[in-house]
Amino acid sequence: MSSIEVIGGEQLKGELKIQGSKNAALPIIAATVLNKGATILKNCPKILDVLHMIKILEELGCKTKWEGNTLFVDSSVITSPSVSEESVRKMRSSILYLGALLGRCHEVTIAYPGGCSIGKRPIDYHLNAMAKMNVTEEFLKEGEIIHCSTNEIIGNDIFLEFPSVGATQNVILAAALSKGITRIFNAAREPEVTELCNYLQEAGAKISGKGTAYLQVEGVKELHDVTFTLMPDRIVAGTYLTAIAATYGDAILTDFPAWALDSVIRVLKKTGCRIENFENNVRVYCKKRLQPIELIKTQPYPGFPTDMQSQMMTVLCLADGESTIMEEIFESRYQNVKELRKMGAKIRLEASDNKAILTGVKKLHGAVVTSHDLRGGAALAVAGLAAEGKTIVQGATSIERGYEDICRDLSALGANIRYCSENAS
Ligand code: EPZ
Repeated sequence: MSSIEVIGGEQLKGELKIQGSKNAALPIIAATVLNKGATILKNCPKILDVLHMIKILEELGCKTKWEGNTLFVDSSVITSPSVSEESVRKMRSSILYLGALLGRCHEVTIAYPGGCSIGKRPIDYHLNAMAKMNVTEEFLKEGEIIHCSTNEIIGNDIFLEFPSVGATQNVILAAALSKGITRIFNAAREPEVTELCNYLQEAGAKISGKGTAYLQVEGVKELHDVTFTLMPDRIVAGTYLTAIAATYGDAILTDFPAWALDSVIRVLKKTGCRIENFENNVRVYCKKRLQPIELIKTQPYPGFPTDMQSQMMTVLCLADGESTIMEEIFESRYQNVKELRKMGAKIRLEASDNKAILTGVKKLHGAVVTSHDLRGGAALAVAGLAAEGKTIVQGATSIERGYEDICRDLSALGANIRYCSENAS
């Protein structure tokens, strides 16, 4: 497990290109098994979660290779439609092979994904939807393993009680090669769901309603080879916005998906940051003390994204007044609070309604802190940039799940940040 050492105090300046999107890459890598041929994915981030999804592709019998950030997949042959327990335990997103393998092979054996530090993260919506599409589900090994099978996936009306990103994606994946039409009501509208639809349409799928809460997928006989360029990662982009804001910097971010970050940009502008768009780039700078935000509630897209909650908490810990955050998506996504308190942050939790009340301080001070999840870890690195002195973020491997190289990127903006050994302090 690696750690990150940050020496705070540098105002971030310069220019940085945003990497490709993790949360678009993962479902699209699963989707490649629907095509008995080749897929070329450009702008694919080389991150642990992507490497993990590729490992599963190879376990399934596919061939892959990298050229820079271009991933080549040959999914002509699937030798065994099963995803190992170890693979699913390591990464919850492996569950996206459920819909993809049912679509390709009409069967799949896959372990039940466990929860993680941010919540239990069940898959009932996924399984209920598959059952409505003529799929039989057997629970093996005391509910640890699921074996699903069908002689034909039949399209149906799917009503999601919550606009779950993963459940929406699994239904799309199962419906792409099905018989008939699947209509998804209360579908997730996240840009990464739309990106999956973009990829599948390029490969020959028939999908309508992209970006809305009502999607329609008409099954086709087969998909064909496709070359696809992934969108930039909106959460990595948002993270770097907060790093520039927290250090009162002035920098340019290129290949920046402003269109997918409207709620985050709106909140940052309310803190007093200036954010100027030009083509695919933004200039962000903050010259005066950050201002508090009365209330931020995390919501499904297009609301404020839960994946930006920890990073925004870091920024508001420095604001001139009291701010309130309500985490509405996951039941335990305040792991950073105890870590930020070690750095001098003033945060009160009202667990009853998942509320964090922040009283801003002028300065944080360095400390040894622990990353509990990918976004929380990134938010602690941002806190270290704004703090006086040295911060060590332990358990930084979790950050590498979603950030190609956070030290490389932030150093390019002048940050004093580097990886160091785990027991550094
Ligand atoms: C996706 O996770 C993202 N992951 C998450 O990003 C993101 O936080 C989340 O969507 C919400 O936007 C990827 O795209 C790989 P959900 P997902 O299904 O699909 C409950 C990151 O940092 N739920 O929309 O797992 C669930 O417990 C990660 O990149 C059920 O109850 O999220 C949660 O409370 C973290 N039953 C809520 O819905 C189900 O069957 C939202 O989950 C499914 C979900």
